[in-house]
Amino acid sequence: MKNKFKIEKARLEDSIAISKLECACYDSSWHDYANWFWNVASEFMWAEKATVAGKIVGGIVAFKTQQGNLYIDTIFVHPKFRRQGIARALVKRILNQPKKKIKKIQVAVEDHNLSSKKLFNSLGFKNRADLPDFYDEGKDYILLEK
Ligand SMILES: CC(C)(COP(=O)(O)OP(=O)(O)OC[C@H]1O[C@@H](n2cnc3c(N)ncnc32)[C@H](O)[C@@H]1OP(=O)(O)O)[C@@H](O)C(=O)NCCC(=O)NCCS
Repeated sequence: MKNKFKIEKARLEDSIAISKLECACYDSSWHDYANWFWNVASEFMWAEKATVAGKIVGGIVAFKTQQGNLYIDTIFVHPKFRRQGIARALVKRILNQPKKKIKKIQVAVEDHNLSSKKLFNSLGFKNRADLPDFYDEGKDYILLEK
């Protein structure tokens, strides 16, 4: 069953819940770091959350790079709420902003992350470069750009 969801700005007080969700989605144990990151992201970056009946079920963070691009640093959706268009709506929120001072929108996707590659390709992102060992040693990523 598809759920009715809302996309809203993520706030400082969302940091604990959203960082726990992020860690669960990426199967990561870096919770302290993720919590700190969301504290910073909600205040200084472009951070949005997806909610269903008030519960946080997804998130996205983007920031402007020194090269004038907009970089999507993270995007994730709770496993129980996947394949309902929530990630697509989160990315569209970033894409639909005024692009006056932005050159490209970028994201680094792990090479074997087929669902994420399909998501971004379906929104017009194209392969731009290989990023070996990008976020972590031994993990290969691809830079996608639109
Ligand atoms: C990748 C992720 C964010 C997708 O979230 P989602 O809300 O399920 O995605 P959507 O429902 O908006 O899907 C949009 C499109 O992406 C593609 N897609 C998403 N999940 C897919 C899957 N499991 N298999 C194949 N294609 C998939 C499809 O093209 C889909 O369109 P369709 O449903 O009309 O076929 C989610 O699976 C996730 O949180 N994964 C773990 C974290 C992660 O890998 N984040 C990306 C880092 S770059």
